[in-house]
Amino acid sequence: MKNYSEEKKLSFSKLKGISEKSISIHHDKLYGGYVKKWQEIQERLKQTDKSSANATFSDLRSLKIEETFSANAILLHEAYFDALGGEGKPEGEIVKALENDFGTFENWQEEFKAIGMAARGWVVLAYDFNDGKLRNYLCDLHNQGGIWGTSPLLVMDVYEHAYFIDYGSDRKSYIEDFFANLNWQVVEKRFQRVRKQEK
Ligand SMILES: [Fe+2]
Repeated sequence: MKNYSEEKKLSFSKLKGISEKSISIHHDKLYGGYVKKWQEIQERLKQTDKSSANATFSDLRSLKIEETFSANAILLHEAYFDALGGEGKPEGEIVKALENDFGTFENWQEEFKAIGMAARGWVVLAYDFNDGKLRNYLCDLHNQGGIWGTSPLLVMDVYEHAYFIDYGSDRKSYIEDFFANLNWQVVEKRFQRVRKQEK
């Protein structure tokens, strides 16, 4: 489980619109729960009877499906929490890259926000290693909606648990505040990391 520094925790307490109560339940209980379950699955897999593997139902099948669910829940939540705690000012080469692939930064943002209203789980801006393009993905579940060979750069949680405590059903305001709370240096760091892998 990723434990954040005191400085990072402090930035969580100063988020616009998203309360400390909401973010701490989200991080400590929900994200922490996924980490524990992933660990439990790894232990169970070591003991599972592989000779009874069956595509209708078997322990191995269930564990392997829930392994993707919990592992993606961890990765997506870490990307989400990592990028919160900033001042919402877009910067870095990522901005130029978004302009290249979406025409303008505003076009990209408009699409990302709209997907945020259409999704039941996540919106993911990802770098696609298959053709070097940036794409927005809609994921209704942790283990649904992603494409092989892509790497998440910016992730927005739109499950109700991310905003209902503070915003009720007003998801639109939550999305606006998500952008106001973004640390674009974190997004840029992820972008530079994938670019290095590309070379
Ligand atoms: Fe979440």
